[in-house]
Amino acid sequence: MAKLKLAVLISGRGSNLQSLIDACSEPSFPAEIGIVISNRPGAAGLLRAQKSAIPTHCIDHKLFGTRAEFDAEMTKAMEAAGTELVCLAGFMRLLSDEFCAHWLDRMINIHPSLLPSFKGLNVQQAALDAGVRFSGCTVHYVRPEMDCGPVIIQAVVPISADDTANDLAKRILTEEHKIYPEAVRLIAEKRIFIKGEKAVIATQNTPVGSMRNPTVE
Ligand code: GRF
Repeated sequence: MAKLKLAVLISGRGSNLQSLIDACSEPSFPAEIGIVISNRPGAAGLLRAQKSAIPTHCIDHKLFGTRAEFDAEMTKAMEAAGTELVCLAGFMRLLSDEFCAHWLDRMINIHPSLLPSFKGLNVQQAALDAGVRFSGCTVHYVRPEMDCGPVIIQAVVPISADDTANDLAKRILTEEHKIYPEAVRLIAEKRIFIKGEKAVIATQNTPVGSMRNPTVE
């Protein structure tokens, strides 16, 4: 079966990009990366793609007069690369409504919290400040409103009393690297569809049991 063609959009270090590169290097993985686009010329993730011989494209947002022009340039590059699914992976630009409409249900994002809690930036510190006992990460379809859209997969991690934001970010990132490729696989295998504003997974395996933090003696 033909592999689903991905475009990965980055702005920085690209560790989630790396998790997708690694997954796609498995012959049985049902997707492949056709292009990596960065809006920042110095993004470390560009080197990761180049090392794996994946075509890269730097589209520096500072060179465009309007967001619409910048977004149109990205769409042009992605369509030229045959993109079927856009994966935002630490892409730090807001997207225009037109861009979101064009890629509706064909664009996903990863976010380091259990959405809809803690949208935006510095969300690990926000979770610590709120005193919640669990946080995690979410892969979701993209809608124009930031960090909104049908949830595909979430992973949960516990928060320790002595965690720093950095400790929590590391624990969450380990899970991000697992769930992003899993979400791509679900889409590539056509095991997921959108009903209303929910992503429904055919043959979903739901874990049983519960977790408590702190554990109760
Ligand atoms: C990740 O925490 C991701 O969830 C968020 O931005 C960060 C990007 O990290 N959207 P990386 O560039 O993938 O290492």
